[in-house]
Amino acid sequence: MRRAALLLAASLAAGAAIAQPIAFDAAERARILSHGPWPMAWSPDPSNRVSGRPAAVALGERLFFDTRLSGNGLVSCAGCHRPKQHWSDGHARAIGHAEADRNTPTIANLRHSRWFGWDGAADNLWAQSLRPLLDPREMSFSIAALARLVRSEPAFDCRYRAAFGRSVPADDEQVALDAAKALAAFQETIVTGRTSFDDFRDALARGDATAMARYPAAAQRGLKLFVGRAQCSVCHGGPLFTNGEFAEIGVGHFVRPGVVDPGRHDGIRKLKASPYNLLGRWNDDRSRGTATGTRHVAAEHRNFGEFKVPGLRNVAETAPYMHDGSVATLREAVRHYSELDPDRVHSDGGTLLKPLKLADAEIDDLVAFLRTLTEPPAPFARRELTEPRCD
Ligand code: HEC
Ligand code: HEC
Repeated sequence: MRRAALLLAASLAAGAAIAQPIAFDAAERARILSHGPWPMAWSPDPSNRVSGRPAAVALGERLFFDTRLSGNGLVSCAGCHRPKQHWSDGHARAIGHAEADRNTPTIANLRHSRWFGWDGAADNLWAQSLRPLLDPREMSFSIAALARLVRSEPAFDCRYRAAFGRSVPADDEQVALDAAKALAAFQETIVTGRTSFDDFRDALARGDATAMARYPAAAQRGLKLFVGRAQCSVCHGGPLFTNGEFAEIGVGHFVRPGVVDPGRHDGIRKLKASPYNLLGRWNDDRSRGTATGTRHVAAEHRNFGEFKVPGLRNVAETAPYMHDGSVATLREAVRHYSELDPDRVHSDGGTLLKPLKLADAEIDDLVAFLRTLTEPPAPFARRELTEPRCD
């Protein structure tokens, strides 16, 4: 009897311990709060004169889903950036006209991005939207063919006139850049929904212990690691869970034997050479207010093998991972940081990244936390926009 009572008391104590809220110190608390609020305030992109304009969003949406924008008539943007797969495709490396060298990233939450592509070869969303159209392995289209299609298809032509306030011009490059700006306007409207992490973060901000207790204990422990000892938030910081910059974390560089992906180093070279960067004549913002980074960036040795720090919203849904799709599961992605070989990290990350030597339970907790960054299922519905009357 006595023994049973003792056991009961012990198990109650254990239960109570589990129910104890996880304690966050002031620094951890500040870092958690900096991952919100969500969603972020939206403002139009000054480099794109049709950013936020409903007729441009409508044109961009139609272009995004249309396979006629490809050399073989089979590939659309949405074939790789699939709405049902959180705007990625589930392949290790993208497959268009041929297999590409890199993994397809999501296109959600890009309005606040400064650089685009794993190597940051574009500094604006419209130039990044033109790139796959012209890439022979992706859509293998051309500026002339794109201009012809926009002119000849009444559904495009009508929306073009509504968005840009003039008929489709004769200059093919102008039409292609405008189409890319409409594609950008559409993509800027894709913002992921609120998550259980956001609810927890807001509850923490207002000191609402009852609401905080709804967030699973494993996720709380994982979050504590994320902003604390594991130092993930140094790179995956802010509401987007990325600082928007580049780092090297020791993922392999080889595309195939003997061929290396130089990452950011090559991205800077391409960015500087591009006629479509923010310093060029296609930027609609005469003040060049957002071009400062492009003006000053210069390739340095440390940029070799650096890739864009991906945002982690919906990350549990977008396997496989990394710029080359070489990591199959979320657990493996976390384990990478536990076991990474510091000798393979030769850029600035090297001073920050040490193998974390996480216990299995800690890896579980980090994964549990990352899973709370998934928005509740809300299948993408083609929008009923306040459209120009075109049909
Ligand atoms: C064949 C598959 C494929 C197609 C088709 C495709 N993409 Fe992509 N997309 C990718 C890959 C791969 C990357 C990464 C490219 C890189 O890093 O060089 C990417 C990157 C992007 C990015 C940058 C995302 C970021 O986080 O920086 C945007 C924006 C984008 N694509 C938009 C588009 C648009 C718009 C279209 C249609 C005009 C399109 N994509 C067509 C595979 C594809
Ligand atoms: C030094 C900066 C840095 C730190 C610190 C860091 N990351 Fe990363 N993370 C990156 C970069 C860069 C990539 C992409 C690397 C690549 O593709 O080569 C990445 C990729 C990822 C991915 C894959 C995402 C995708 O869409 O492919 C996950 C998941 C991830 N990190 C989680 C974490 C976690 C968890 C921690 C802490 C244990 C962490 N990161 C710490 C920079 C960092």
